[in-house]
Amino acid sequence: MARPFYLTTPIYYVNDAPHIGHAYTTIVGDAVSRWHRLLGEDVFFLTGTDEHGLKIVRAAEANGVSPLEQADRTSARFLQAWRQLDISYDDFIRTTEPRHGRAVGALLQAIYDNGHIELDSYEGLYCVACEAYYVEADLVEGLCPIHRRPVEAFAEENYFFRLSRFRQPLLDWFTTHPDCIRPEAKRNEALGLIRAGLDDISISRTSISWGVPVPWDPAHVFYVWYDALVNYATAIGYGEDDGRFERWWPAVHHLIGKDILRFHCVYWPAMLLAAGVDPPRRIQVHGYLLVSGEKMSKTAFNQIAPADLVTDFGVDGYRYHFLRDIPLGADGDFSFEGMLARYNADLANNLGNLLSRVATIVAKKCGGTGPAPSPDSPLAPVAASAYRDAADAWERMATSEALDATWRLVREANAHLEANEPWKAEPGPAVDAVLGSALEVLRIVAVLASPAMPGACAELWRRLGLTGRPDDQRLPEAAGWGGYPGGLPVDKGGPLFPRLQPA
Ligand code: ME8
Ligand code: MG
Repeated sequence: MARPFYLTTPIYYVNDAPHIGHAYTTIVGDAVSRWHRLLGEDVFFLTGTDEHGLKIVRAAEANGVSPLEQADRTSARFLQAWRQLDISYDDFIRTTEPRHGRAVGALLQAIYDNGHIELDSYEGLYCVACEAYYVEADLVEGLCPIHRRPVEAFAEENYFFRLSRFRQPLLDWFTTHPDCIRPEAKRNEALGLIRAGLDDISISRTSISWGVPVPWDPAHVFYVWYDALVNYATAIGYGEDDGRFERWWPAVHHLIGKDILRFHCVYWPAMLLAAGVDPPRRIQVHGYLLVSGEKMSKTAFNQIAPADLVTDFGVDGYRYHFLRDIPLGADGDFSFEGMLARYNADLANNLGNLLSRVATIVAKKCGGTGPAPSPDSPLAPVAASAYRDAADAWERMATSEALDATWRLVREANAHLEANEPWKAEPGPAVDAVLGSALEVLRIVAVLASPAMPGACAELWRRLGLTGRPDDQRLPEAAGWGGYPGGLPVDKGGPLFPRLQPA
């Protein structure tokens, strides 16, 4: 059986529509999943929506709908955005689904049965308008910092997860699994949080009913985060299909933004240990996408919807930009100008020109039939090293490096054409060798870039006269030099990536 590869994105809140930050994580997850499918692995790619909690109740109230209607509408907008962006998810989970309620019940019950959840009273300064607790230091002149209303000394019975017991088990786990959290700086951040000491955490609420009921005490619902994290287990049959869960779980890779590091790198591994399940194989943390140096937020009115950019750049231009220009891990500043420059340089010029030039000369000198590549082309070792570097980078989810390595091959192929000037030469074996090698580069690039640009690479493949699709190919074989057979009709067509003018 093929090697399993299980990749998850965060599940997004349904208080508001998707923006380019949500799309960023989802596209990285999609491209990495597509790469692993090319490797012949058995891939399960999960995304979805997080639908419980006060945030959703509040959004529903503001929109004059029920929480479930709010969730239905907004979840549909995420689905629609992911369809538009060619996201090849294998499952889309919604936390309001019955299967999820059952899995949350089963996993939290296991923690409870193991003695790591206990009822305790929680005391604090409560703002009813916020439905949230504050400590003295949060208050402004003794009042709620948001509503400027008096707070009440309040006590609530809550279930507590005894997180404090898991300090040493977590440290031990991350020591024996040094690659569990990537990149290294984020691993150190998580270790710092754990070493600093862990307080027990309140995991249930009685003040709200929009949540998953606590199975042993239905007057409580789980606080939204402790329901949400379990989605990763729900989707592969936790508590219902042990065989399925055990096949996928050891191969689980969580891709997340740095805003939710504490939940994924501390709370979730501790919950799993408490339930008797191994922590995830990998938690890959990425930075923020900034707009003019600031994080996108509702209050800053700087949210950009993916659809706004797809209109200009196309789905593949959109995907390519974010995968190529945001190095995984670091924060990246989005700018329309940067996106335009990248599109024109890499897609309209480098790749687009390579195809249109080669197709034009094949039409003129070879009657439109593509010649076979030369086996000892100087481009052959360039292709081999591009593949090696791209494969290494995709393995680390370093999409920018992977595409940079792939475009090195595109640039070399353009330089090879310029050095040989086949447009000036008489038809014959020398011209055939140069053109065949350029066609072979285009074939290899169509495969290597297909995780980033599935649609455009399928079209490139078709224009080369090849049958099937680049994403049906298998690596490493499909990256080997000599796969383009020659004798196929090459279709020039219109520009693959029409040049865009600055606004
Ligand atoms: O936190 N830059 O959901 P959420 C990069 N429901 N990535 C961004 C981003 C930005 N500016 N803005 C959002 C939640 N993201 C919880 C998660 S998981 C069990 C529960 C991405 O809707 C990034 O992946 O606030 C971030 O971690 C996630 O969206 C947060 O989405
Ligand atoms: Mg958020």
